[in-house]
Amino acid sequence: MDITTTYLGLKLKSPIVPSAGPLSQDISDIREMEDAGAGAVVFYSLFEEQIEHESLELDWHTSAHAESYAEATSYFPEPFEYKLGPDEYLNHIRKAKEAVNMPVIASLNGKSLGGWTDYAKKMQQAGADAIELNIYLLPTDAQKSANEIEKVYIDIVKSVKGAVKIPVSVKMHPFFSSTANMAAQLTNAGADGLVLFNRFYQPDIDLEKLDVVPNVILSTPMAMRLPLRWIAILYGKVKADLAATSGIYTEEDVLKMIMAGANVTMMLSSLLKFGIGHIADVTTRMKTWMEEHEYESIEQMRGSMSYMNVPDPAKFERANYMKVLHSYK
Ligand SMILES: Cc1cc2nc3c(=O)[nH]c(=O)nc-3n(C[C@H](O)[C@H](O)[C@H](O)COP(=O)(O)O)c2cc1C
Repeated sequence: MDITTTYLGLKLKSPIVPSAGPLSQDISDIREMEDAGAGAVVFYSLFEEQIEHESLELDWHTSAHAESYAEATSYFPEPFEYKLGPDEYLNHIRKAKEAVNMPVIASLNGKSLGGWTDYAKKMQQAGADAIELNIYLLPTDAQKSANEIEKVYIDIVKSVKGAVKIPVSVKMHPFFSSTANMAAQLTNAGADGLVLFNRFYQPDIDLEKLDVVPNVILSTPMAMRLPLRWIAILYGKVKADLAATSGIYTEEDVLKMIMAGANVTMMLSSLLKFGIGHIADVTTRMKTWMEEHEYESIEQMRGSMSYMNVPDPAKFERANYMKVLHSYK
């Protein structure tokens, strides 16, 4: 049984990849992921703000801009809230590369074009096998058009691609007016892979404190339906490899994503909930399913349930939508 896959030009022993998040902050956890059968690991993100913060701090020590420094940094978390700063991040890549054989994908997270994108080169020098670029920009300015916003994404991708030789994937969100067109634009800008989808963490309101509070809620399995649809739509239509993230809990979720067209399936909430050993359980059950259904490889099933052969997916979607609404009893 061959469960190897390719992603971003890398050969992975499994399509199961721990998604960007806190589990990659610990080298022993990264080792455990590899032992459990993970194909690669995506690191937690290094943020534009952390990189800019560091250079602002440097600036402050070498010039007398205390006021602008204080203003610019007032919205950052205190340094101790970041477990690892930019230098430690690079060291952590080096340590992980020494500890495991599976590819290590660094995550760079930003929202605007700037010098921080050069950090991609440092990640490459530290040994990262690829970079996942998470562009997290909430378009709150009513005067800014979709084109202007999209251009920011494209410029960031071009800038990072220009800085490195290793492959770059883009973790995109599903809120563009034309998701398929944006996927094509990102690919044309050089993205070697698309990670579907980024989640915007919605804030909540604390009624007692009358304060806005951030709280991370783990995904439920239902969350996988959105990337499942879009991976099926985009498979064969964009040159980029496709990674699925959100709500992947079971071997069935992994199999469905691969049949839709995913190269890899990323997991975080399920690992936070059930532990890293969950990778091994899902792998075993996935192999059993493949054996029972006479599949010999992941490659063989990839894209078999995609929209590749549907001439007009939009029509297909509309017809299904009507059917589903009428089928509710
Ligand atoms: C606690 C937590 C931390 C996360 N940190 C990051 C991060 O640093 N960078 C990133 O791109 N995504 C981050 N994510 C998003 C995950 O990588 C993933 O895309 C998302 O949780 C959906 O997948 P899941 O349903 O398997 O959790 C984080 C998610 C959680 C729950």
